[in-house]
Amino acid sequence: MSEQRLWHEVDDYFTDRLLPDAPDDALAAALRDSDAAGLPKIAVSPLQGKLLQLLAQLQGARNILEIGTLGGYSTIWLGRALPADGRLVSLEYDPRHAEVAVRNIARAGLDKQVEVRVGPALESLPRLADENPPPFDVVFIDADKVNNPHYMEWALRLTSTGSLIVLDNVVRGGRVADPDNTDPDVLGTRAALDLIGGHPRLSGTALQTVGAKSYDGFALARVLA
Ligand code: SAH
Ligand code: DHB
Ligand code: MG
Repeated sequence: MSEQRLWHEVDDYFTDRLLPDAPDDALAAALRDSDAAGLPKIAVSPLQGKLLQLLAQLQGARNILEIGTLGGYSTIWLGRALPADGRLVSLEYDPRHAEVAVRNIARAGLDKQVEVRVGPALESLPRLADENPPPFDVVFIDADKVNNPHYMEWALRLTSTGSLIVLDNVVRGGRVADPDNTDPDVLGTRAALDLIGGHPRLSGTALQTVGAKSYDGFALARVLA
């Protein structure tokens, strides 16, 4: 069996046992409608979505920021971690993606708590900061990787002590550590990792993952005082 197939089979095994409700849920519907609308199949996997939800719950998150909505799949996982009066702001560049996401989020019953803002995140973030929102307890960065260092800087501005920043796709099949790879996305992720490793207000780590999303990984950073 190929490694890829093995990773998939183990992900299916875990998903069957740990996420048994998923098939008839608004989450499955969100993926189905995202597909039907031609969105790229790059949402987090179900097991990864559940990890994001658990992390948000462990944080006791009341305010969550997401950069990169796509069809709202990760948004729904994170949104379900919120208390009734919690809030999630998700930033999406592509109005077609945002439109699909808004429908998916409404079907999940999260439209009161979740707001999707359309436009380049680097334009939405300063506007958001101008509104002086309460600090975000969790920030999930999952948009254009070239801007990852900028997103890290904004995440630092919009969080406070104890907040958690999660950065997706830091491995990309191992390209992050290939010195010959100078793809702008890889450079962006390297710069974000350097920022986490060198910043006095961040304590971070990174984890490689295999599974339904092949070989990739997350970086996690906790905001210090
Ligand atoms: N978090 C989603 C997947 C996001 S895919 C999930 O796991 O379900 C990345 C998304 O980032 C895409 O929808 C893409 O349109 C969006 N994106 C790309 N560049 C962006 C930018 N500059 N600002 C905001 N969103 C951007
Ligand atoms: C891609 C983007 C993602 O956020 C992801 O999780 C996987 C793949 C991509 O652009 O290919
Ligand atoms: Mg991603």
